[in-house]
Amino acid sequence: DPVQAPDFTKCGDAYVKDVLLDVKCCPPLADKIIDYELPKFEVLRKRPAAHRATKEQVAKYEKAIQAMRDLDTSDPQDPRGFTQQANIHCAYCNGAHDQVGDFSNLDLQVHNSWLFFPFHRWYLYFYERILGKLINDPTFALPFWNWDNPKGMTLPPIFDKPSSPLYDAKRDPKNNGSAIVDLTFSGSTDPLQLVANNLSSIYSEMVRSVSTTTAFVGKPYCAGSKPSPGGGSSENGSHTGVHWWVGTKDTSGPNKFNEDMGNFYSAGRDPVFYCHHSNVDRMWHLWRDVVKNDIPKDITSPDYLNAEFLFYDEHKRLRIDLPWLNYRP
Ligand code: C2O
Repeated sequence: DPVQAPDFTKCGDAYVKDVLLDVKCCPPLADKIIDYELPKFEVLRKRPAAHRATKEQVAKYEKAIQAMRDLDTSDPQDPRGFTQQANIHCAYCNGAHDQVGDFSNLDLQVHNSWLFFPFHRWYLYFYERILGKLINDPTFALPFWNWDNPKGMTLPPIFDKPSSPLYDAKRDPKNNGSAIVDLTFSGSTDPLQLVANNLSSIYSEMVRSVSTTTAFVGKPYCAGSKPSPGGGSSENGSHTGVHWWVGTKDTSGPNKFNEDMGNFYSAGRDPVFYCHHSNVDRMWHLWRDVVKNDIPKDITSPDYLNAEFLFYDEHKRLRIDLPWLNYRP
């Protein structure tokens, strides 16, 4: 059977391994939960590469993130606020929810399995619509961090200005400016070597080392499954590499779990998280629609297609999502 949507009324404490966090990441409750429906088609949102975004696109993005941050103080219970949105990640990953059904001894976990891509696609979908709504721009599109292209292999400069709402102080201070992302944890500091490592590792996780659908997408995770059966090549590879590279390495201080990007509960507090995941989502699209081979690209098991999530939409309504609904061919 598919994993069911979490029960927000039973949300509890969040953990990292067995350490209880002093973070409360439970989403606000809603009187009713409505089914997701495809919105009427308006304008296609086109995500720009962050390093090539125009001044106007960057200004809109900054304005929207600032509006989201402002909700934290003006209405902390608004599910569209910056901290509430970051907490979604914690609520689906750090043990705050058990699996619904007779599985109350099993944590709900959307990573390290085939739920990884659909969960994050939905998460970004609503996040992007919320940002657009907050600045009254229905065409607003999140930039993506183009780390698979040598020109995009540094932290996108728009995230690196301390005065910008896109800035986050909880990052590894070494990994800004012209530092090249190290997707393979190689430890190298030679930029040309890093670029070569990154490109060959992306080739491997997109093509060479992927011989089955689940090798790319992730292993089955169903009702009653233990969390984290195994992530796909992209999740385990470049996706995790970027998280690790951006997050803090000094864990002796207050950022003890490699905050912000280095841990699930805190990753969404860094605006670059959503820009990173826009590229992770793009890699899914590239593997599915651009990489040509004989591997079936879609998982057809109903245990996958009927998995459910809950998200608040841009009108603060709690929606239940079915991953296949945006797969209309
Ligand atoms: Cu939900 Cu990049 O992790």
